[in-house]
Amino acid sequence: MPDTCLDVDFCRSFFPPLSSGEVYFENAGGSYAPRQVIDALDAYMRECQCQPGWQFASSRSARERLDRAQALMAEAINADCDEIVIGPSTTLNVYVLAHALAPLLAPGSEIVVTNQDHEANGGAWRRLADSGVKVREWRIDARSGDLDLGQLDELLSERTRLVCFPHVSNIVGSVNDVRAITAKAHAVGAMVCIDGVATVAHQLPDVKALDADFYLFSVYKMYGPHLGVMYAKREHIEVADNQNHFFHEGNVPEMLHPGGLSYESTASMAGIVDYFESLYTHHFGAEDNDLRTRLHKVYGLFQKHEASLMVRVLDYLSGRPDIRLIGRDTSDPSMRAATFSVTVAGRDPADIASRLADQGICVGHGHFYGYRCVDALGIDPAQGVLRFSMVHYNTLDEVEKLVVALDAIA
Ligand SMILES: Cc1ncc(COP(=O)(O)O)c(C=O)c1O
Repeated sequence: MPDTCLDVDFCRSFFPPLSSGEVYFENAGGSYAPRQVIDALDAYMRECQCQPGWQFASSRSARERLDRAQALMAEAINADCDEIVIGPSTTLNVYVLAHALAPLLAPGSEIVVTNQDHEANGGAWRRLADSGVKVREWRIDARSGDLDLGQLDELLSERTRLVCFPHVSNIVGSVNDVRAITAKAHAVGAMVCIDGVATVAHQLPDVKALDADFYLFSVYKMYGPHLGVMYAKREHIEVADNQNHFFHEGNVPEMLHPGGLSYESTASMAGIVDYFESLYTHHFGAEDNDLRTRLHKVYGLFQKHEASLMVRVLDYLSGRPDIRLIGRDTSDPSMRAATFSVTVAGRDPADIASRLADQGICVGHGHFYGYRCVDALGIDPAQGVLRFSMVHYNTLDEVEKLVVALDAIA
């Protein structure tokens, strides 16, 4: 049977902004949303923008849409429905989680944080030092930007209660070996809190297979609305400090979810899975009954396509010694995501970004809240890096445009 390739034109046809002619490489900042997401949001607001869960028809419909969206997202990442919390953002979800776990961390207990993380999975944990928790930093190699597993061994002890790290770094682009890190943490009795925000456009996590205690990601980096999803093992939610109203004490997962949520955005999350399903049917027909199998096949196509884009980027960069590539020089999607940060000798990333913008090429620059990471790489965070990031709907032609434009500017 011939190897199936991603039909990129078919994918692109679902994303209204992609017809504008702009070349969009700021996907690590936020990916575009397909029609299925936009339509679900629109339909929710038109048809059932009311308090969900009452007996009247529009309220029942609202509840059904919310339940469906939550169930689909939970199944997609192999979580149970009551193990996921949907909040406004990953930053806020980590903040709430840190408050919920704080009473469980006796003074003298230790947590490990990295300087590879976005500040979302660092700041809230580092602040626990104020209540007597010892915070130990797992530092990247200043040249490669990678985290060394051997160094983690030196930081872990029977006092370690939690290890926080990114699945993929939003600056370095490296894919960390989640299973290996988690196994080490679990071996000393510590939990892990994994930031999957920079992962989910490229890889679909299986939180059970990863044995994650906490796994968080932002839905707007996964072709959806501005929301954060937090997976937490039920056993951890049960003993966490209730962050909700007093009468929610003991309610899983409401204890980790203070306040209401954006119902319309939550309902629209279902559109992400519906989009993936359209891709599955287009490429594979109706072979598999299992949702996760179908989604993993779709992501498999994404990865193969993204690898081909990465090959071209890396090939170009290998011929430009004045451009420093941050992170691994590999197009293997199990090792790096198509998120490239670079510095150009003697050039301001903001200036390059604005010249690229003049040519309709959308990229970002700065430290992207990975301040500590950029700093540790020996780069002034005030300038930061130039970052371009590709996902499955980007084309080789677009990469070619970037390469030509960058070459002329740099
Ligand atoms: C790797 C990573 N983690 C966390 C965040 C923060 O996510 P949110 O905006 O949902 O708080 C971002 C946002 O850019 C990110 O790239």
